[in-house]
Amino acid sequence: MPAVVKTENLVKDYKLGLVVVNALRGVSFEIQKGELLALVGPSGCGKSTLMHLLGCLDRPTSGKVLLDGEDISTMNDNQLAEIRGKRVGFVFQTFNLLPRLSAAENVELPLAYTGVPVKERRPRVEELLKKVGLADRMDHKPPELSGGQRQRVAIARALINNPAIVFADEPTGNLDSKSGEEIIALFKQLNNNEGVTIVMVTHDANIAAQTRRNIQLKDGQIISDENR
Ligand SMILES: Nc1ncnc2c1ncn2[C@@H]1O[C@H](COP(=O)(O)OP(=O)(O)OP(=O)(O)O)[C@@H](O)[C@H]1O
Ligand SMILES: [Mg+2]
Repeated sequence: MPAVVKTENLVKDYKLGLVVVNALRGVSFEIQKGELLALVGPSGCGKSTLMHLLGCLDRPTSGKVLLDGEDISTMNDNQLAEIRGKRVGFVFQTFNLLPRLSAAENVELPLAYTGVPVKERRPRVEELLKKVGLADRMDHKPPELSGGQRQRVAIARALINNPAIVFADEPTGNLDSKSGEEIIALFKQLNNNEGVTIVMVTHDANIAAQTRRNIQLKDGQIISDENR
C-alpha cells in the first residue's frame, strides 16, 4: 500500500509584490496509514503552509505531494476540491462551524457534496456524534455548546466522509487546558481504536509529547523527524 502522504522536495514561495517569502524550502517525508503525529515548530516556520499543501487547499511552487499514491501537486482547483471533499478532514483552532445549523446538520453537511443518499446520512451522523461523546447534544447549535463540545462537532464533521487523513491545526488553541486534554484524548482514541490517520499541528510541547512521532520544522525545513 502506498503511503497516505508522501512529499518530495516540497517548496512553497509566497510572492507579495517584490517580496518573496520562502515558506517551505525542500520538505520530504512520508506518513503511513494509522499514524498519529505532531507537527511542531516556532510561529512562521511553515506548519500551516505544509498542512494546506498536504490537505489539497493549495499547490506547491515546486516539488511533489502524493496523496494515497496520487500526485495532487499539479491538479487544478476543481480536482483539488473534489479530492479534498472525499479524502481529507480538517479541524481548525476556531472550529469553523455554521452557527445557525445544529450539531447534526453541521456534521451532515459534507455528505451532501459527496452524493451520499439522504437516507444514509442521518444514521452515520448520529453514529459519529455518539463516538465523539455528543449523543445528547445533536440538536444544539454551536452557540449553545462549550468550546470543547464545538471542537467535538468539528471532529465528527472531519470524519464524516471516512477521510484518508485528518489535519488538525492547533485544535486546542482556543480551549482551556482540561477541554484541550479531552480533545487530544479523543484524537488518540480515534487513532487507536479506529485507525484514523491524524496530523496535529501544535505549539504545545505537552501535546507533542503524547504522539509517537514528532516532525519539527524550522524556517521551512524539517530539522528533526523522530519516532518514539
Ligand atoms: N498567504 C500568504 N501570503 C504570504 N505569506 C504567507 C502566506 N501564508 C503564510 N505566509 C508566510 O509564510 C511563512 C509560514 O507561514 P505559516 O502560516 O505556514 O506558519 P506557521 O508555522 O503555521 O505559524 P503559526 O505557528 O504562527 O501558525 C510565514 O513567514 C508567513 O508570514
Ligand atoms: Mg499556523
